[in-house]
Amino acid sequence: MATALITGAARGIGRATAERLIAAGYEVTIGDRDLDAVQATAAEIGAKAVQLDVTDEASVIAAAAGFTELDVLVNNAGMYLRGTLSTMTVEDYRTVMDVNLLGPILMTRHFADALAANGGGAVVNLASMSGYTPVPGTGAYSMAKAAVISFTELAALEYAPRGIRVNGVAPGRIATAMTADRQGDPEREARTHALIPLGRSGEAADVAEAVFYLASAGAAYITGQVVRVDGGLTIATVPLLQAAQGG
Ligand SMILES: NC(=O)c1ccc[n+]([C@@H]2O[C@H](COP(=O)([O-])OP(=O)(O)OC[C@H]3O[C@@H](n4cnc5c(N)ncnc54)[C@H](O)[C@@H]3O)[C@@H](O)[C@H]2O)c1
Repeated sequence: MATALITGAARGIGRATAERLIAAGYEVTIGDRDLDAVQATAAEIGAKAVQLDVTDEASVIAAAAGFTELDVLVNNAGMYLRGTLSTMTVEDYRTVMDVNLLGPILMTRHFADALAANGGGAVVNLASMSGYTPVPGTGAYSMAKAAVISFTELAALEYAPRGIRVNGVAPGRIATAMTADRQGDPEREARTHALIPLGRSGEAADVAEAVFYLASAGAAYITGQVVRVDGGLTIATVPLLQAAQGG
């Protein structure tokens, strides 16, 4: 049975990805720094649970010790803090960079042997639309996700000789707990959805489907690519300008 490990999968996109891979017959382990939450989710969806802080190399090494073989690694754990270039503290920058960028680097490095064991596995990194279009107010997150895109390309090159493919997905506006503070007001939601070419926010399952594909044998000749799962939002700049000018 094919095996997968998904970080930050106690909830949200990671959980939806775990459910998608389980439905496809994978044996899935979900890792999260929140032990109670990850154990509860694992019991609900039929996964194994491991406590894992992707920013802590000792924690990553301890988790990797439990795997001699792994087919799919999904570097999903992520977070943002609010703040501008003027207000973010050094500690804020380190926290955001550690979780979103250093985490995937450490995970990929320490799971590379397990991924290579079956002739080459697949890594899928969670980037973000904001890695392409920086978002004032959460700019450290944007910079970290831009670096995740670069890391995806670099890792694809460095791990290709071992048969490991490395790809990413860049979600747009997805309805999860991470974005909960921006959901709930129907008028605001309608205004937001009017700006998205496909007319709605994404669901965690929309992202999970793209992760599943990139991890699958069907994507055997794809590496170093990042797929935008954003309903067309990042290509909508000119239509939005046209709309502002009255069409
Ligand atoms: N929701 C969106 O709109 C959106 C958009 C673009 C990108 N993303 C990215 O998708 C991924 C998942 O997002 P989500 O919305 O499901 O987030 P979420 O906040 O709902 O879930 C994130 C999970 O990661 C875990 N986590 C955080 N830090 C961790 C660490 N150091 N080690 C292990 N686990 C840790 C949290 O406990 C939580 O369970 C993230 O990388 C996020 O940046 C989300």
